[in-house]
Order: sequence, then structure tokens, then C-alpha cells
Amino acid sequence: MGKFEVLDHPLIQHKLTIIRDKHCGTKVFREMVNEISNLMAYEVSRDMPLEDVTIETPIQVTKQKQISGKKVAIVPILRAGLGMVDGMLEMIPAARVGHIGMYRDEKTLKPVEYFVKLPSDISERQIFVVDPMLATGGSAIMAVDALKKRGAKDIRLCFLVAAPEGVKALQEAHPDVDIFTAALDDGLNEDGYIVPGLGDAGDRLFGTK
Ligand code: URA
Repeated sequence: MGKFEVLDHPLIQHKLTIIRDKHCGTKVFREMVNEISNLMAYEVSRDMPLEDVTIETPIQVTKQKQISGKKVAIVPILRAGLGMVDGMLEMIPAARVGHIGMYRDEKTLKPVEYFVKLPSDISERQIFVVDPMLATGGSAIMAVDALKKRGAKDIRLCFLVAAPEGVKALQEAHPDVDIFTAALDDGLNEDGYIVPGLGDAGDRLFGTK
């Protein structure tokens, strides 16, 4: 089974409380999502492998560490995942960015894939899928399906708020992926919103509704 971690750093928790508040406007919401994603990038990359490198300081030649191994791809699930891209890129600026678009079929209520554009070497990259909310898990499961179909092997998913139902569904469908979230909430209400959650993350990020 992959990792499941709640990233409860005090700075992350504080900023998350700000955006949960229904009085938080679009500007601050966006800024906070950006800052939380920045901090999450730091946490989820904690185990990146290092290698020795020899450099010369102004004083002497020395052996130091640099990140080795796989290159990174950040993959937002459209549309709300876009809000987490810049914050992640600030920490991992050389990462490539792929996109996965999904909409919810009004009849079946199931997510349908409509757009997938990924770096051509996706099978060799460490992938960070980003989406603010893990609700039923439907979109996340389909996003991982879409990635695996194209050869992806090393997949981590980063959420701001997760529902236990979504975590369970995702772990059952894809036991090999790692899941990181800034908060694990109580559950889903009858409309499919996370409780207490923060409402519709896409609408709050983009000021739509
Ligand atoms: N998607 C959202 O944006 N919010 C929820 O609470 C659930 C799914």
C-alpha cells in the first residue's frame, strides 16, 4: 500500500483555515492555495534521492549533495487543480506540467475524461497530481487510470482537503499510489460536498458561480 499522509504543518493548517472561511474572497483564496501548495511541495518532496557532487566554494573543493534521479511532472486535474500549479512550480521550477481534464456526466454522475496532455517521457518522471479536493475519489481514480494507461509508474497525489470515502476508494482502486492531503475531513454530504470542507474549490478559485 502506498503512503497516506496528512501534512499538518502549522503554517499549512493556518492557511487552510483562512480559505475554509466563507468570507474569504477570491484574491486571498488564490494566494493561500498558492502558498499552501508551495509548502506541500516542500513536504511531498522530502524523500527525493540525493547524490554527491563535487563543487568548488571560494575556499576549497568540496563534496556536497544535489537531487538525483527522476525528473518531475506536475499534473493538475482541471479545473481546480490549476490553482495548485504555480505554488508547486516555485519549489520545483524545472518540472514539466501535464493536464488532465474531466467533466461530470449529468446522467451517470461519473467523471468523463475529455483532455489529456502529458510530457512525452511521463513514464520516467515522478508525478505529482494536484487537485484541491478528494471527494468521492472518482476524478482522482480516473486521472490515475489515464496516467497509468500512458505509462506512468511513480504517482503521488496532493490534495488540500480529503474525505475518508475518497481516500478509501482511491486506495482500493490504486493501492500503489501515495496520497498527501493538508486535511482529512469528516465526510461527504448528500450533494457530494466535503464536510466541513471549503465549498466548490474551482468556483472559489476562479470567482465563478
Ligand atoms: N469538489 C469541490 O470543489 N468541493 C467539494 O466539497 C467536493 C468536490
